[in-house]
Amino acid sequence: MFVCLGNICRSPTAHGVFRSRVEQRGLAHLIEIDSAGTAGYHIGNPPDHRAVATARQRGYDLSDLRARQAISADFDHYDYIIAMDKENLSELKSICPPHFKGYLGLFLDLAELDVCEVPDPYYGGPAGFDHVLDLVEAASEALLDRIDKELN
Ligand code: 4NP
Repeated sequence: MFVCLGNICRSPTAHGVFRSRVEQRGLAHLIEIDSAGTAGYHIGNPPDHRAVATARQRGYDLSDLRARQAISADFDHYDYIIAMDKENLSELKSICPPHFKGYLGLFLDLAELDVCEVPDPYYGGPAGFDHVLDLVEAASEALLDRIDKELN
């Protein structure tokens, strides 16, 4: 499960990109994907139109996604709880049950990149959304390689 602050920009982008990669590798029946926000400002809303448009330019459809807030029960359902930045990670740690044995960490820590956070594009211009997609595409490939190995 991918988590950012509002669940309308970064985590739905990660959700849509990763879903597409999983489908391409024929693993959709084995991997359940979701996304959520640490905040509840946008519950029930579709992704930000800029995130939808930027993703569509690269062939990803985010139109079916709706925002929700992350809850402690998510830790009982998902093996990977993946935060876009350190602030989200800290919020998630505060609701993580002590028995959770999965991965709770930063998305970009899974990839060999020289940055560790996916920056919040909400208050910036269109270039920020392209940058989010670059980072998300790279990290999605790394995450899928890791899960693919675990499944084999
Ligand atoms: P996200 O971006 O966390 O990538 O979905 C944001 C969306 C909305 C807000 C902040 C960040 N907001 O303050 O409403």
